Amino acid sequence: MANEPAGRGSTRTAVVWSGLEPVLGRGSAESRDVLDIGGGTGGLAVRVGLLGHRVTVVDPSPDALAALDRRAREHDVRVAGRQGDLSSLLDVVGPDSADVVLCHGVLEVVDDPAAALATLARVLRPGGVLSLLVAQRHAAVVARAMAGHFQQALAMLAPEQPVAAAGRTGRRYTHDELTALVGDAGLTVDTVHAIRVFTDLVPGSLLDLEPGASAALVELEHAVADRPEYLPLATQLHLLAHRP
Ligand SMILES: C[S@@+](CC[C@H](N)C(=O)[O-])C[C@H]1O[C@@H](n2cnc3c(N)ncnc32)[C@H](O)[C@@H]1O
Repeated sequence: MANEPAGRGSTRTAVVWSGLEPVLGRGSAESRDVLDIGGGTGGLAVRVGLLGHRVTVVDPSPDALAALDRRAREHDVRVAGRQGDLSSLLDVVGPDSADVVLCHGVLEVVDDPAAALATLARVLRPGGVLSLLVAQRHAAVVARAMAGHFQQALAMLAPEQPVAAAGRTGRRYTHDELTALVGDAGLTVDTVHAIRVFTDLVPGSLLDLEPGASAALVELEHAVADRPEYLPLATQLHLLAHRP
């Protein structure tokens, strides 16, 4: 997809962008109404806007929305920013209003993930696509244990943590928990990809010093993204679903 960032950032986002290619890439049909819920400072929203789609970011943070506005102006692209959150979303954008909903890094911090997904299902038009990016639990347990934080790793094993107890980075999901939640919201799961299987384990210095290492790492991430055996090793899961 166009506008792929170079360097370390691309190793983190390359597989997500490829997953979105059929939905938002230049080869996809006409320009779409895209909602980026919890879109923050607009890193993703501006890139999607540059592809010619009509993008609205809804986020509770006025500071993030101000940064989004600056970023959009710098890139000379129109992205609408509206203050709100998942609990008020239907009042802000209305039902059946989006062809594509991006919800990246947000399901970890909402109070009620099931209610949040039901809301997103209502915002989508029939046939519309949900792109969900969430933190994956098993990799986080291993990372805590490897860092010697054994009690944290133990606490993290439990599913269904209240968000307040889940720590600074919020809840984490397994593949089965995530697909069940999305299915219960009335959406049909199409794909789940493993994101950042190796990237967070590789020292930054190796990528900086070894010529071609970043590109080779991206190739490796692509190669394992749709292999189910790598899902439990992934830092994040990227799920695409549609409203029937
Ligand atoms: C980790 S950031 C992710 C930002 C962006 N989506 C990304 O992937 O880079 C989480 C974002 O969710 C927003 N947020 C927090 N609680 C929310 C809620 N209840 N509903 C919608 N957005 C929320 C925050 O303001 C923040 O911008």
